[in-house]
This record gives sequence, C-alpha cells and structure tokens, in this order.
Amino acid sequence: MEQKHGKIAEPIKWVVEDPERKEVWWPSPELKKRAWVSDESIYEQSGKDPIAFWAALAREGLHWFKEWDKTYEQDPPYFRWFIGGKINASYNAVDRHISTEKRYKAAIIWEPEPLDEPARVLTYYDLYREINKFANALKSLGVGKGDRVGIYLPMIPEVQIAMLACARIGAIHSVVFSAFSADSLRSRLMDAEAKVLITADGYYRRGKIINLKAEADEGIKGTTVEKVVVVKRAGLNVPMLEGRDLWWHELMKGAAAYCEPEPMDSEDTLFILYTSGTTGKPKGVVHTTGGYLTQAYWTTKWDFDIHDDDLFWCTADIGWITGHTYACYGPLLLGATMLMYEGAPDYPEPDRWWAIIEKYGVSIFYTAPTAIRMFVKYGEEWPRKHDLSSLRILGTVGEPIDREAWLWYFYNIGGGRCPIIDTWWQTETGGTLINSLPGIGPFIPTVAGRSFPGTRHVVLDENGRRVGVGETGSLVQLSPFAPGMLRGIYKDPERYKELYFSKYGDEIYYTHDGAKVWDETYNIRLGGREDDVMKVAGHRLATAEVETALTDHEAVAEAAVVPAPHEIKGEVPVAFVVLKKGWEPSEALEKEIVAKVVKAIGPTAKPQAVFFVHDLPKTRSGKIMRRILRSLMKGEPVGDTTTLMNPEVVEELKARVAGAASK
Ligand code: WTA
Repeated sequence: MEQKHGKIAEPIKWVVEDPERKEVWWPSPELKKRAWVSDESIYEQSGKDPIAFWAALAREGLHWFKEWDKTYEQDPPYFRWFIGGKINASYNAVDRHISTEKRYKAAIIWEPEPLDEPARVLTYYDLYREINKFANALKSLGVGKGDRVGIYLPMIPEVQIAMLACARIGAIHSVVFSAFSADSLRSRLMDAEAKVLITADGYYRRGKIINLKAEADEGIKGTTVEKVVVVKRAGLNVPMLEGRDLWWHELMKGAAAYCEPEPMDSEDTLFILYTSGTTGKPKGVVHTTGGYLTQAYWTTKWDFDIHDDDLFWCTADIGWITGHTYACYGPLLLGATMLMYEGAPDYPEPDRWWAIIEKYGVSIFYTAPTAIRMFVKYGEEWPRKHDLSSLRILGTVGEPIDREAWLWYFYNIGGGRCPIIDTWWQTETGGTLINSLPGIGPFIPTVAGRSFPGTRHVVLDENGRRVGVGETGSLVQLSPFAPGMLRGIYKDPERYKELYFSKYGDEIYYTHDGAKVWDETYNIRLGGREDDVMKVAGHRLATAEVETALTDHEAVAEAAVVPAPHEIKGEVPVAFVVLKKGWEPSEALEKEIVAKVVKAIGPTAKPQAVFFVHDLPKTRSGKIMRRILRSLMKGEPVGDTTTLMNPEVVEELKARVAGAASK
C-alpha cells in the first residue's frame, strides 16, 4: 500500500462495488493484478489432468529429499499420493526459509491476553532453533519415528514448536483442544497410545489463569504416557512428579542446537486429530505427510492470496483442524508472517480483536461465523473505534454463514473493500476444498464457491444421480481425491469405510453435508450436516457423545440429544432425559447432570436445557426418532408420526418444550 507522510493512503478497493445491488461482488482490477491466481481457465486446465496438476504443485511448493515414483494410486476405499517420495514437514516449514532472505523475517507474532505483557516475535531463525532443540529434547525422552505424542497446550508459540519438533523426528502428534476436559484428554491419549504429553502450567482466559496442569494430571491417569513436558506460561506453582514431569525450559537448556530432519515417506502419518463422528466415541482422523503439506501450502497461498508483505491471522485454536493447517503448517510452509493471540476475543472489551488488527496491521483475517455473530450482537461501534484499513482479505469457516452475518462482516470489518472467502472443508479433508478464489470471485453471501482447482465435488440425490442447478442433495468428492484427504481412522478401518465410502460406493467420498448447486459454473451453497453432528460455536460435536455422557449418570435411563438453534453459537445441545424408577426431576439433579456432561467432554458440550420426560419418541423397532425432537426445537411441524410406536408422547414433548420457551 502506498505510504503518504507516514499515513496509509486511502485503502484500496479489493472488490468492485455492486451497482446492480444483486449482492454479488467481483475482484477489483487491483486485486486481480496482485492475486496469485486470476485466470478462470485454471479450473478447466486442472480438471483435464488433476494428477499432473497436483504433481506440479507438489514439486513447486515443497522440498522433497527424493521425488516420488508414482503420483497417485487408488485401491478403493484407499488412495495414496506421491508414492515413494521422501519429505519432512519441519524442513519445509523452517530449514528452507533460513537460507533465504526470510531468515530473520517474523514467523509468529504472538499477542498475550494480558494487556501489560509484551508481545513475542519469533523469526524463522528463532523458530528453526527452537524446533531443532525441542526435537532433540523429545529424542532424549525416548520419542522416535512413529511414536505418538499428545499435545495439550493453549495458544502459545510452543504449540507450533512442539508440533514441528514431532514432525522433524517423525513422531505423530495428536493435539487435544486445551478447553477439553481431563476425561476427553484421557480417551484420546488412550486411543493414540501416546508416550509423551506436552502441556503447560496454565494460561490466561478472560483475565483468569486456567490451571491446565491439573487437568493434564487427571487426564493421563491410566494412559500409556510416560513423560509430561510442562511449559511455564502462567507461573503457577504446580506439582511436578519426580521422574515423570519435566519443565520445558529445563529440557531445552541441555538440548543440542541441530537435529537432522527424518526423511519421511510421503504416506507416513504426520498427525492424528480426533473429531466427532456419529457415535459416542471421537475418531482419530489420520493425515499423512506429502499430500497434506501440498494441499496446506497451495490452499493457504491461493485462498488467502498471501504475499510476503502480508500479515495473516487465523483465529482458530490449534486444537482444531483449522488451527493445524492455517495457524501452523500452511503459513509456515509459505514463509509467511502470522499473528497468534492467546486469549478471549472480547477481553477486556469487545474490541480486542479489532485492536489487534489495528496494532499489528493484519492484512488477512480468517475466522468463524459464530465469532462474527457474537460481534454483530456487540454492535458496530466496537470495530468503528479502530483503523481496520490494513485488511485486504477476509475469510470464514466452520459452518454455513447467514446473509446478515456475511454483510456485517463485509461492511463493518472489511469496510466494503475486502472479498470474503467462505471456505468449506472438514477435519477429514485436511485443507480447504470449496471456496471462491480472491482473484476470480464471485463473492456471494451464503455461497462458498467452486471446488479448489484439481478437485471435484458434485451434489447427488438419494439414488446417486447428479442434481441440477438450483437443486439440493448430498455433497460428495470424486476421485482423484484431494491430496490432503484423510487416509483412515486410527485403528478403525471399518469405520473409515462405513462413514465415507459406503453411501455412494467405495469410489465416492461422502462428506455428510447437504448442498445446493447454485449456478451453471457449479458454485455451491452448503446446507449443514446430514448426520447427527452439531456445530456448537463452530466446534464439532456428536449428539451421541453428549448422550453417552448423560446415560453415564446413575439417574438416567435414556437420553436423546438434539441441536437447538442459537443466535450466536449457531447450535447448542438440548437433552431429553428419561429418569430411572425412583428418581424425581429436580433442579439439583439437572445441575448435576449438566455438570456430568461438562466433565466428560468440556464446556462446549454443556446442554442448554434438560427436559425430563416420561418417554422418547421411538420407531416400532425401538430406535429413537431424533428427527421429531429436532423439529420441536426448531419450532417446525413434527411431520408424520404414524411410524412411531408411541405417538402419544409427542404431545407431552410439545408441551414441555413450549413450557420452557414461555418461561
Ligand atoms: C461445516 C472445519 C458451511 C460442514 C474446517 C463440515 C461448513 C463441518 C463450512 C466440518 C462452510 C465447515 N460452510 N459449512 N464454509 N466449513 N463447515 O471437521 O458441516 O470441524 O462438514 O472442520 O463443518 O467441521 P470440522
């Protein structure tokens, strides 16, 4: 941007105005000129030979110790990319950059939550040193290639250092969201059979210090974890178990400065990330190295049009896939500068995010609809207090964004100048897959866009036939599958096949999302999950997980959980509970039951309401008809109840829900 007398000149319009008021925007000539991709023919060209297309991208974007022998192979429902290629993620994220002019460029600018604490800036060289040393520290603890390492850290730079140190020595990281409970941590560590856990004493959240070590201590009970590495972040006086617990800073003192990066096979596992499926037990989504890195690199570069002078801020927590790909791997592979913030978006005031954008001059900002809805409620006076003219591109992810939130974001944060890139993807897909590209457009509220070049998604009806323009159906991905797609569910090949490659056969990936074909060019509007997975404030949660936690309570005979619409969080769980004989509903019991869920999963899963009922609507074969409960919560007609074994319960349920609503 042109500087005039130290003041930033009139901000550039990155999108052209919408004179016809159709709510369709296009990139401005400035944006087209600057964008990495601006020629629409990329879609057609990449579609002719997607395998060759990705091979060229993998070659250009990444450093391979040895090139692959074969680019793509498919053995349904499995597939592999860059077979025989040798690569290391941490080498690509740091070593490559320190021999270029990026050597002393800021890799991470970290803003702590307390206002009186200084920011931390890590250059690529700093990051390189820390990763090497921590990789050696892990080795000294006996961690080697293929071992699993649990990471239970808040948003501090040690999280990227830990992830990349694992990748450097070929260990598999499994990051667990720091707000998850000890019980959630335990089940994930157990499933992954982790050898080491990396955590912190505590961290700041809304001005308070959260004692993370206490949760970690509880969470590792009964697991295979032998050593716990503890980052001193909050200065808490936490108990350290002799022989098991080690301070990060002490381990680092003795660690050698260089660690040879392990040449990994392209298809070696890079990480496992647990996510909610349709059962009570979260599943370990497995991502491998070469393909994931290729998709991370190119989607970060093209979706957000990142250049060397940009400051990229993805607000997602590292505990989610968005944090993995866009707050760690993607930006670092590119040698970009990213911002990272420790705390709550609205602390100490609802303008904290906007203050951060102004302070550092963030140019690309990627967040979630739930956050936008929260800021809509706070009001536009908060962003108005700040100079947000450094912003160039805005992104959103995690759930469908409604028109009102889109337009608010567009005008109040982007000043009507910045395109909104609405990216559709999943933990399973590793990187974004459906969105408009900044230099091509269009930018339409509620419409994500087209398949990323080199990938193909279509919308099918129940019989597997493609639906036409304007019609809705199930979103699927066609082969060749995107390089960053999951390669399996940890230790559960059956579930992998059943969840993703059974609905339409083993050569079509079923996304579990509904979608509408928007127009002739195959722009897509997403419609939400078709299964029993909720999005609570953008966090993925299976109704079955909450039900399992509920039925673990001694008073609960049966429970059904469904999402209820929520103004800010999008959806929240509500529970219908049948008590065992001898138990009476009471407020105290309700509190106890709710606490049980929070303990089992975390605060995200907290039911908004508990309805004690005599019976749940069931089919003749005894299956709970959640569809009826869902409709009740949405205030929609319950539809056909003739297939129910006990249609009479519907009236009781209606009365209970209506009673609660009128309270
Ligand atoms: C939903 C998040 C509409 C979708 C990266 C998907 C979206 C699930 C969008 C995956 C979007 C994600 N528009 N819906 N732009 N992005 N979703 O695994 O239902 O946490 O299946 O990954 O979020 O959630 P996950």
